[in-house]
Amino acid sequence: MVSRVIPVDPFDLVLFGATGDLAQRKILPGLYHRFEVGQMPEDARIIGTARSDMDDDGFRALVRKSMKEFAPSFKKDVLDRFLARVEYVPVDALGENGWDKLAKSLRPDVVRAFYLSVGPKLFPGIAQRLHDHGLATPDSRIVVEKPFGHDLASAKGLNEGLRACFEEHQIYRIDHYLGKETVQNLMALRFANSLFEPLWNATHVDHVQITVAETVGVEGRGAYYDQSGAMRDMVQNHLVQLLCLTAMEPPSTFSPNAVRSEKVKVIEALEPVAPTDIARGQYRADKGGDGYVDHVGNPDSLTESYIALKVRVGNWRWSGVPFYLRTGKRLRARESEIAVFFRDPPHTIFPNVGPLHGNVLVIRLQPDEGITLRTTIKDPGPGGFRLTDVALDMSFAEALGADVRAQDAYERLVMDVIRGDQTLFMRGDEVEAAWTWVDPIIKGWEERGDRPSRYDQGSSGPEDALMLMHRDGRRWRQIGG
Ligand code: BG6
Repeated sequence: MVSRVIPVDPFDLVLFGATGDLAQRKILPGLYHRFEVGQMPEDARIIGTARSDMDDDGFRALVRKSMKEFAPSFKKDVLDRFLARVEYVPVDALGENGWDKLAKSLRPDVVRAFYLSVGPKLFPGIAQRLHDHGLATPDSRIVVEKPFGHDLASAKGLNEGLRACFEEHQIYRIDHYLGKETVQNLMALRFANSLFEPLWNATHVDHVQITVAETVGVEGRGAYYDQSGAMRDMVQNHLVQLLCLTAMEPPSTFSPNAVRSEKVKVIEALEPVAPTDIARGQYRADKGGDGYVDHVGNPDSLTESYIALKVRVGNWRWSGVPFYLRTGKRLRARESEIAVFFRDPPHTIFPNVGPLHGNVLVIRLQPDEGITLRTTIKDPGPGGFRLTDVALDMSFAEALGADVRAQDAYERLVMDVIRGDQTLFMRGDEVEAAWTWVDPIIKGWEERGDRPSRYDQGSSGPEDALMLMHRDGRRWRQIGG
């Protein structure tokens, strides 16, 4: 196969929080993979920083260990060459130690990126020091991880802190869902084909279901998660982004601001959500072990590990079309998808076959990325004329060949930073718009003292979520079906 990899320009990437979980599990293995395929040039450098006192070799040994766990298919000779590009400078993010050394180690004539794989509280302080120590050149980029704030006020504070030292075009706010291949494919599907767009509206679409189901629990992140819950942790960012890409108008070009402006319009059109259109749940203890409250160490917790919402996009295109969103932990299967349910055929010419079903277009984000279209055909064989539903099913792995390794979202996103492409990153106003919609929903249940209902681990979520759908005469697609 002809290589489709275009190397990026030489760069110095400074990774704050380099000894942390995300850096070791995702960012550094992602960079290794880009190096292995030739996209990260040989003269690029990665400078890990953290508080720990360590030398280059100590840090390289740590990365090598992580690679064994998180990228076990690495090639030894390539990893040796990759590690030769990796350095380490101990830096006190909120003190003064290490900054001068860091400043001296950076080259003036290559792309410069600062990746803050640290908690959001540290963003403004690090940005300020980068500025004060003269590291933040007009062309350098700063990358920040989620969560981008806890509510609108804190997100605004973070934006102010970052913008005091960097221009908006230098700020890359990560939502790793946008780096997923199939999420981008949603844009290709909609805007590179003429088949779907004419049907993509309230006249033809009955409703949309967006599901991000996980089998994992809170896995050692209890302290963070119990302050967040599924609404802040998943809906405010990942699910809202999926909703935006599904619902947005075609941007005039595939340029960062054109795409992001269309997404902002969708978020601004989201209507307030009635309490009756929300179902929150918490996974209960099961025979084999603990439940949510044990995992987060808070027996009185009212935080949701599951949420389902009926959302309306108040604009001309989507008037009257509900978007049902759901996400939760410890569910039956790990499965993320967007399912667009088209309206039932208006009239049947076939006698005695019962009601006809509308087509359903399912974009599978993970696992087994692909697209399925539920279609009705004639049930084969002689005898009466019967109909049956079949799936036109395309798996990307099968269609594109086994040699296309599933790229992790971080691989693409880090390379986009170096290329200076902000399309798959959230703009400041976009994050604030999402919090503007989310805040009153959370405030509502906090003020009412709503308690999440319990659901079994390994199930599809709480009963209330089923009812939310049944009430409208609809059904959720089966998780793990
Ligand atoms: C993160 C959330 O942003 O996304 C986690 O904080 C969640 O709670 C994770 O598990 C899911 O990401 P993915 O890529 O595994 O679907």
